[in-house]
Amino acid sequence: MAAAILELSGVGKSFRSADGHERRVLDGVDFTLREGEIVSLLGASGSGKSTLLRIMAGLIEADGGEVRWRGRPLYGPVRGIGMVFQSFALFPWLTVQQNVELGLEARGMPPAQRAPRAARAIALIGLGGFEGALPRELSGGMRQRVGIARALVTEPEVLLMDEAFSALDVLTGERLRDDILELWRSGTMPTKAMLVVSHNIEEAVLMADRVLVFASNPGRIRSQTAVRLPRPRAPDSADVRLLIDEIYALMTAGAGRAAAHAPLAERLPDTDVARMDGLLQLLIAAPFDGSADLPALAEEAQLADAELLAAAHALALLGLVQLERGDVKITPLGRRYAEGAHTLRQELFGQQLIAHVPLAAHIRRSLEEEPDGRLPQEPFLSLLAEHLSQAEAARVLHTLIAWGRHGEVFEYDYHTGMLTLPSGDEDDAADTEG
Ligand SMILES: Nc1ncnc2c1ncn2[C@@H]1O[C@H](COP(=O)(O)OP(=O)(O)OP(=O)(O)O)[C@@H](O)[C@H]1O
Ligand SMILES: [Mg+2]
Repeated sequence: MAAAILELSGVGKSFRSADGHERRVLDGVDFTLREGEIVSLLGASGSGKSTLLRIMAGLIEADGGEVRWRGRPLYGPVRGIGMVFQSFALFPWLTVQQNVELGLEARGMPPAQRAPRAARAIALIGLGGFEGALPRELSGGMRQRVGIARALVTEPEVLLMDEAFSALDVLTGERLRDDILELWRSGTMPTKAMLVVSHNIEEAVLMADRVLVFASNPGRIRSQTAVRLPRPRAPDSADVRLLIDEIYALMTAGAGRAAAHAPLAERLPDTDVARMDGLLQLLIAAPFDGSADLPALAEEAQLADAELLAAAHALALLGLVQLERGDVKITPLGRRYAEGAHTLRQELFGQQLIAHVPLAAHIRRSLEEEPDGRLPQEPFLSLLAEHLSQAEAARVLHTLIAWGRHGEVFEYDYHTGMLTLPSGDEDDAADTEG
């Protein structure tokens, strides 16, 4: 087996949220990156991928377990590890050349040596001629290339790439990815191993020797899939499609679980009702007739994997579809919903929301217990923030409010931030409360 470069054993990390609660973001992560391999890391938003990369780069410290770099404990940033960040993170007032030289300057290399090395890295990544340009004069794809050149100029043995391609349009992202693979194949970059965080299953399968799927809450490795296909890999080849299917299945395992096990502060999938409805309509129509392969549905719906997965998870959560081994199948209830008139749809949606999303039921019950059927959103937001970051808590409540309004479970006033029972429901409330 090839030599281990980075070894993680039992790595954990907690963050303290604004209100002082500890949140476990990573737990028990075991993983070894070896010479000669490209590993892709897939996982839901917020599952801790960037945090793991920062720990591997020595930028932040794990609070449990151990990270070893070439056999020695890693205590901080080291020369051999380069990182490309999720956002372009360039200094807007510095030129391309100056941005790329930064990494070398930080380690005290004199300007006379820095300049030619930066120029080489810039040329390598296809930006020759743009040395004097400022970031704002570049396209998104070119800016991301500067970010990669800045990592490559230090000649890292390990390159950690955090969604280096996802902020780019599809074609630009593909071109950049292919260029990186070509540099890797030809041996023109000194990098011996790469870990690539991705939101795109196809990208992961096309690039990697191994695909890791991360589970959320806390983040940990759910599965590893070896990809033993020669490169370059054709996206449409049967082998590639089969693996994409398999990984979709791994990523959707466990969706639609029993509501009894769902936590009150659950991280709901980030999706909206219109997208869920749109997917159901596609699903019941030809050629799918109620059952589809997730990648095929993603293509038909023209959605990115993350968007499709979020909507599919939401539908599964509500019992409108079933997810099984990478396939999505409409349930009898889902069919009634998809074929129903608007009021029936609202009714079914609300019923499923209360049955399957404990927080929706909790909000509804709390409103019914109020004499005037009104409550501010803050207590529910704090409840979520005990388990999620402030930003995620707000996002989840926002999602739930949109779903709750569609299902007429509750109303929300965007001016006052007050949750209320839907008009005409006050009498029902009195009935249910007896
Ligand atoms: N410095 C920090 N302080 C507090 N919480 C943090 C910090 N950094 C990350 N988190 C939280 O840790 C969790 C994991 O974040 P991280 O950015 O690692 O996820 P991710 O998998 O990279 O998500 P994405 O796919 O959206 O980039 C999130 O809930 C995030 O809010
Ligand atoms: Mg991230």
